Amino acid sequence: MSILVTGGAGFIGSNFVLEWLAHSDETIINLDKLTYAGNLQNLSSLEGDDRHIFVRGDIGDQNLVKDLLEKHQPRAIINFAAESHVDRSILGPDEFVQTNIVGTFRLLETVRSYWGNLTGEAKEDFRFLHVSTDEVYGTLTETEPGFTENHPYQPNSPYSASKAASDHLVRSYFHTYGLPVLTTNCSNNYGPYHFPEKLIPLIIHNALAGKQLPIYGDGQQVRDWLYVTDHCSAIRTVLSKGEPGETYNVGGWNEKPNLEVVQTLCSILDELQPSESGKPYSDQITYVKDRPGHDRRYAIDARKLQRELGWTPGETFETGIRKTVEWYLNNQDWVENVTSGNYRDWMEAQYS
Ligand code: NAD
Ligand code: DAU
Repeated sequence: MSILVTGGAGFIGSNFVLEWLAHSDETIINLDKLTYAGNLQNLSSLEGDDRHIFVRGDIGDQNLVKDLLEKHQPRAIINFAAESHVDRSILGPDEFVQTNIVGTFRLLETVRSYWGNLTGEAKEDFRFLHVSTDEVYGTLTETEPGFTENHPYQPNSPYSASKAASDHLVRSYFHTYGLPVLTTNCSNNYGPYHFPEKLIPLIIHNALAGKQLPIYGDGQQVRDWLYVTDHCSAIRTVLSKGEPGETYNVGGWNEKPNLEVVQTLCSILDELQPSESGKPYSDQITYVKDRPGHDRRYAIDARKLQRELGWTPGETFETGIRKTVEWYLNNQDWVENVTSGNYRDWMEAQYS
């Protein structure tokens, strides 16, 4: 038995692969294009482990995906592969349309054809799990209740619009072709291997490097934070118990304004690794121009996942954020390789 994971060298995908193999002996075929966000160093602990088969490639390459499906006959596909950074989507939306919309469409087409040829239990038990985001629902005011699965789609950035389009395509393959799909819409993740373009790892990195800690606008935008291994356990739960055609919102009930998150990071760093100057890291906080179309607040109502499938998160924000800072302090080589671009040189040499 095996599963095919796409985007398994990225932040959440690599955490998922590591978690999966810690819980199961089922082989993972990991298809990843290795864009700037993909980093095989995240998976270096699996070197020589036959249960992990890495393939460099694009989810939109139908011949490659067809061959992989025929060769390995996976019982499930989990689609993490995407362009994921909102600010990059504002600077250049092209890749977001290519991977998140066209890539997902091509993947669905290839999978539909593979699944159509399966018979009996293999066909019935097959699952296509699409990993999506709460950003497809748009923004909330300060007092509105959190997003449920029935909230209208109102994406506000090219990133969230491209994820919304992919969700709609996935949904349509269930209703039109009967493909047994599942969709998860998760809130902001944080934890190990998070690329330091995103708020939490960027702040940790900049603080230690003595650089400014950029706060967009007034810093009162709210995000709902979930420790990445909790997202991974939610995906495992939905894969094994979810109802085909259903969507499940995933969140940790941890709404925080950005400024509070940054101040928390500064205090933990003050305690664990005080700055050489003796000044608090919060002195480095700098207010900068706001992100265009910046969503004010996200909040996930995760009650369906708890009620129907029994999933709850294992970490609070307080435990998860401390673990995260400790991980970054203990893995400065990883940060250095990523920020210096050294990991890319290694990958080019490996895959040229
Ligand atoms: P990431 O940017 O860290 O990783 C994305 C991975 O996909 C990279 O390894 C990249 O090389 C790969 N990839 C990109 N284009 C590809 C293509 N065409 N073919 C194959 N591989 C390709 O992203 P992440 O933060 O790990 O997010 C993973 C998924 O989870 C995304 O679909 C994202 O929308 C979703 N999500 C992320 C968060 C979050 O807070 N990070 C929250 C909710 C949902
Ligand atoms: O909600 C889920 C989404 O969370 C995922 O779908 C995305 O893939 C993921 O990137 C994340 O999107 P955000 O835009 O919320 O994450 P980001 O880390 O970029 O920003 C978090 C908040 O912090 C946001 O309100 C913008 C703000 N911010 C971000 C950066 C990088 C700053 O104030 N300063 C910064 O330098």
